[in-house]
Amino acid sequence: MRTLIDIISEELKQAFTACGYAEKYGQAAVSNRPDLCQYQCNGAMAAAKEYKKAPIMIAQEVVAALDKKKFSEVTAIAPGFINIKVCPYYLTLYLEDMAKAEKYGYEEQGRGEKIIVDYGGPNVAKPLHIGHLRSAVIGESIKRICRFAGNEVIGDVHLGDWGLQMGLIIEELKERKPELCYFNESFTGEYPAEAPFTISELEEIYPCASGKSKVDEEFKERAHTATAKLQEGYAPYIALWKHILRVSVEDLKRNYENLDVSFDLWLGESDAQPYIPAMIDDMVEKGYARESMGALVVDIAEETDTKELPPCIVRKSDGAALYETTDLATIIQREKDYGPDRYIYVVDKRQELHFVQVFRAAKKCGLVSADKELTFLGFGTVNGKDGKPFKTRDGGVMRLENLISGVNEEVFNKVMSGREMPEDEARAIAKTVGLAALKYADLSNQIAKDYIFDIDRFTSFEGNTGPYILYTMVRIKSILTKYAEMAGAADGVIAHPYSGESETREYGAAETDLMLTAAKFNDVVAKTYEEMAPHKLCQYIYEMANAFNSFYHNNKIMGEEDRKKQSEWIALITLVLKLLETCIDLLGFEAPERM
Ligand code: ARG
Repeated sequence: MRTLIDIISEELKQAFTACGYAEKYGQAAVSNRPDLCQYQCNGAMAAAKEYKKAPIMIAQEVVAALDKKKFSEVTAIAPGFINIKVCPYYLTLYLEDMAKAEKYGYEEQGRGEKIIVDYGGPNVAKPLHIGHLRSAVIGESIKRICRFAGNEVIGDVHLGDWGLQMGLIIEELKERKPELCYFNESFTGEYPAEAPFTISELEEIYPCASGKSKVDEEFKERAHTATAKLQEGYAPYIALWKHILRVSVEDLKRNYENLDVSFDLWLGESDAQPYIPAMIDDMVEKGYARESMGALVVDIAEETDTKELPPCIVRKSDGAALYETTDLATIIQREKDYGPDRYIYVVDKRQELHFVQVFRAAKKCGLVSADKELTFLGFGTVNGKDGKPFKTRDGGVMRLENLISGVNEEVFNKVMSGREMPEDEARAIAKTVGLAALKYADLSNQIAKDYIFDIDRFTSFEGNTGPYILYTMVRIKSILTKYAEMAGAADGVIAHPYSGESETREYGAAETDLMLTAAKFNDVVAKTYEEMAPHKLCQYIYEMANAFNSFYHNNKIMGEEDRKKQSEWIALITLVLKLLETCIDLLGFEAPERM
């Protein structure tokens, strides 16, 4: 369906042309004075310059020529604004169409593109921490939004499964359990199917080894050697690595499931390794890479750069591959296996330079075509109230699991406070609401901005929070249930035919506001997709929740005696609920039945 703003602009454009002015001046915009009008057009001011006429005269002419069927109020205001209010009855017709339309009137903007979203990016054997929260939450939402827009979207977790942490774990394990067959060079049998550690052991081993490597040079050196051995394909270490991977991925999957985040692909850095040798050869052969102090680099600086960009190092002087190498090789692997039209990386914005280097090198070396869309969505940091990256009370890294259970506990206490509810029901509600609190708090910020982690604020049932949105939805659900019990199924009609378009019933201000907000759905989703900006959806549902709540407080829906009007209200709030449900699904959370 065309957006409301397009329809209004269309009418204005016709009026501008009818009066002899250029069509472009008829573009409408959402009013920045909602106290005066809903939409406005400032075209007369711009036209005044071209046609050398007073803007107010142009505005008056256009208003006179305008077909006003869809409007309840159109006025020309000095110095040349055109202020517009949409006729509520027209809104009801529009909403009626929306309710029947596929995706509530949102027209898919995707051109059926194949998009790979690279998000999550956890590192195997290291526990997930708060830094992984944003990638998972934002990436999941971006994936859903791109799908809703009609694209074929593949989410890839892109595990960090090939780095030094592996060598650290192997060496630490060797110290603890030297008797294991993986460390016996003369061992020739089959390696056990069972891992020689549990996930909790693994989670303890890594930080211990990592700490050790910081104070013990010799240990660190051994870990480097073990990593190199693994990367060369030394069979016992490959066998150990597979155990580490399996145990860790199982745990990661459980964690992501708790976040309602899911990936289509569980590939990792290791999957790109087979492509590295040929890639490097090709870069050298075609002259894209050059030697620099023993390392191999690809120059990526461009004339238009405002600051100097260092070349992209693709091989270290000791022959080792780097993070850049792996990301480039991953592009080769993705091109071969999936051939996506577009790549979106949801990664910490502090990695921006890395991605600029990788994208430019990939294009320069012909790994992807020059016009391929490679998007870096860099997110800001989650900070504590002191403005520094969020930590646990004793200054350690906050594990994601503990963070989530902390939020759930907080919500649980709020759900239970001042009333009786079976504990298991309250726990289930707290899980759903807690997740919404966490995700909404994250997504309601612009992606690139830092934000402050404030559990009290995030879990509040009032204000701009996830729980407030859910609370509003639960309120609508409960009205709908009551109505169904009292009156049976509603007829679902928002606009019953009144006697002609001009003789409609009275619509209250709060009701009109709610209708107008609901009618903006397709426009908001379109902008969210265009700008890859989930915070626009958050803003929208907050606006809608507020509009609904004022409508609710201004009208006794269940007590309304005019049955026709009452059933229209029911149809309206049914649509509002569906729109909210669609939006929160795009954001990656859901609403409980009660709370
Ligand atoms: N594992 C990386 C980290 O923890 C993030 C990976 C992001 N994705 C990528 N293709 N580089 O920093």
